[in-house]
Amino acid sequence: MRILVLNGPNLNLLGTREPDTYGSKTLTDLETLIVGRFPEIEFRFEQSNHEGVMLDCLHAARAYDGVVLNAAAYTHTSIALRDAIAAIEVPTIEVHLSNVHAREEFRHRSLIAPVCRGVISGLGMTGYVLAVEALLDSKAT
Ligand code: DQA
Repeated sequence: MRILVLNGPNLNLLGTREPDTYGSKTLTDLETLIVGRFPEIEFRFEQSNHEGVMLDCLHAARAYDGVVLNAAAYTHTSIALRDAIAAIEVPTIEVHLSNVHAREEFRHRSLIAPVCRGVISGLGMTGYVLAVEALLDSKAT
């Protein structure tokens, strides 16, 4: 089983970026957590601050069994990401570290949610682990 974990803009700054909102753990900590929980799964971890690079990553994920996607701010703006998720037909779980519904109104709308298998928001890094669990479950059934 192969899963792409794709993080969007500003998530390379995890650890120092608004720690009250996003916690003090880094992107490397996240990758270590996920690999430690699921040693049997082959992960590809990508982070980009550029929408086009994220699109390329999603297109390449056609060969994968699932995608865990934190599109960060592009969640709320990107029709292109939405179209890419719809195009690749690979089960994709939308994840947010923070509870976007408890924050500013502009974060309440997700353009990608309708084409994702599900959405996990507000559970911190645990949300990524749960997203992988969900992909595993859907593969098994
Ligand atoms: C985020 C929430 C987004 O609204 C924000 O733009 C981010 C991070 C989260 O993980 O909580 O950059 O996706």
